Formats: sequence, structure tokens, C-alpha cells
Amino acid sequence: MSTQKKIMVSGIQPTNKLTLGNYLGALKNWVKLQTEYECYFFAVDLHAITSRQDPKELAANTYFALATYLAAGIDLNHATIFVQSHVRQHPELAWVLNCFTYMGELSRMTQFKDKSSRAGETIPVGLFTYPTLMASDILLYQADLVPVGADQKQHLELTRDIAIRINNLYGDLFKVPEPFIPNIGARIMDLQSPENKMSKSVSTDMGAVFLSDSAKEIEKKFKRAVTDSGTEISYSQDKPGIKNLIDIQCAISGKKPQEIVASYQGKLYGHLKVDTANCVIGELKPLQEQTQVFLSDKAELQRILSKGAEKAAVKAEATLRKVYDAIGFAPTHS
Ligand code: TRP
Repeated sequence: MSTQKKIMVSGIQPTNKLTLGNYLGALKNWVKLQTEYECYFFAVDLHAITSRQDPKELAANTYFALATYLAAGIDLNHATIFVQSHVRQHPELAWVLNCFTYMGELSRMTQFKDKSSRAGETIPVGLFTYPTLMASDILLYQADLVPVGADQKQHLELTRDIAIRINNLYGDLFKVPEPFIPNIGARIMDLQSPENKMSKSVSTDMGAVFLSDSAKEIEKKFKRAVTDSGTEISYSQDKPGIKNLIDIQCAISGKKPQEIVASYQGKLYGHLKVDTANCVIGELKPLQEQTQVFLSDKAELQRILSKGAEKAAVKAEATLRKVYDAIGFAPTHS
């Protein structure tokens, strides 16, 4: 009998382009952890439509995200990768979870509060119920571990609360998942406003490094990165710009911040910027080349994704069926 591996689940939104933050904060960690777990990784296109998407771009971005997973080293022997909308159990379970989640809980989600304060009355209902779809993504696979950025921790806590609530009512239907928030790489900040997370939705083009950027663009973005007053290169909260550059180097090289700082004794901010740019360019080059290789064979990519969706659906259906039975839905077959 094979020993059962724990299950890891995570997703990335295929909106616009993936950033260096997605790569260092999420993908790189998935690759590191994948051999220890049975993994399910997906592009969350159902979540992406909580803001308007160009239909052609959405599909292209979805393929790009998944080709990037493969290029980053996600290994199909350990991981099932797929498109969220290909597995119908995700929105199906999300509906059920909606019926066990409170308006008050969803109203308290900071991501919703931020976005709704900007959009006002015209905020889509989908943004309000975004966390229950995310909970469905996780609970369907009986996930033990969910690697996410620090901004998603609250959604994960809600997922746990919903799972516990339903388990208390109907017996152990769901595994209660643990978040995994990597300390290095989880908070790659915007190059122009280093108080904010580097994010495709908030950043100006100069603030975020996209995985599709050329070496020239990357160099330009780092040269123009906002640094702090003073000249000494040190690692501290009151120098968020410098700290961010050091964090980026750490996430790539695996070195400790102090080692990086020590190597810049007597050097200038400019040195740090150029070196960080080169470090990022070197890291992304093979990733970019490999992504293009996976994108160039669309048929093969689609084959991988449909196999992935098929495999995911088997696991997801087992959970969904258990839930439907427990709730008391009439069975579909004799
Ligand atoms: N909401 C996550 C984010 O914006 C993406 C996501 C959707 C996710 N479903 C998930 C992450 C399930 C982990 C598990 O980063």
C-alpha cells in the first residue's frame, strides 16, 4: 500500500499578466513543495471575471499562466494542473457554501471592503461571494495545505470557518486546511510604491515586473525603482524600497538579507538596483524561454489541461457527492 501524501491546492488569477510577485511568492514555492504533496494547481478564470475581461485575452492569459506553471518546473508526476472553469464542481460547491456563509462574514473581508469602497453600488455580487468560490476550490480537494500570499490569509481563515461549520452540522465532510504563507517572496512590493504589494491590478506598469517583460524593460523598471532617502544600504521597515530590492534578491538566491546587505558595504543604491535587475533578468530568462516552448504547442498544452481537468473532476466529484448526500439532495441515479 502506498503511503498517502498530503494534499496541496493553490490557484493564480489569469488576469493581465503574471508578475514577478506571483512567481517568487507563489510559483517558486509550489515547485519547491510539490514532491512532498499531491498537488492541484489551477488558473482561476471564474474568479477573474469578477472584473471585466476581454474574452480573447482571458483565454490567452489562462494559457499563459498554465504554460508558466509548467515552465517554472511544475511536474505532472506530482501535480494536476487545470483551468478552474473546466471543472464544474467548483461553482457547484460554491453555491452550497454560499448557503452556509453569512453576509456579515463576507462583508468583513478586507479585499471586498477595499474594492467596494472604490466601486460603490456597482460592485458585482461576484466580488462579494469571491471567497466562497475560493473556499470551494480548496475544500473540493480535501486540501491539507494552501500556499497563498499574505493578502489571502483572511479568505483562508473564512474557508476554515465554513468547513468547520458544515462539518459540525453534517459530520466530517471536509478537511480543514492550513494556510502556508512563505515569509520570503510573499510580499514582493511595488517598485514605485513599495508600501503596496506588487500586483497586476493596482500597479502602474513601472511598478510591476511582468513575467513577459523584456530584459530592457526589467532593467528600466529597476533603475527607476523608488528608493528611500539616505545612502546606506540596510534592511529595515523604514526603508521599504531598499528592503524590497533585497527581498527580491533573497527570494531568487536563497541568501539571507544580512548576507546581501554585507555585500553592499560602501556601495550605492544604484549598484543594488542594477544588480537586482540582473538577478531578475537571469532568473526569468529560462522561465520565459520555456513558457514560449509550452505555448508554441497549443495542442499539447490543451491535452495536458484536459487530462488535468478530468483527474481533478474525479476528486472534486467525490467530495461534492458526499456533500449533496449529506444535505439530502435526491440521488441522480437509481
Ligand atoms: N484568491 C487567490 C488570489 O487572489 C487566488 C485563488 C483562487 C486561490 N482560488 C484559490 C488561491 C484557491 C489558493 C487556493 O491570490
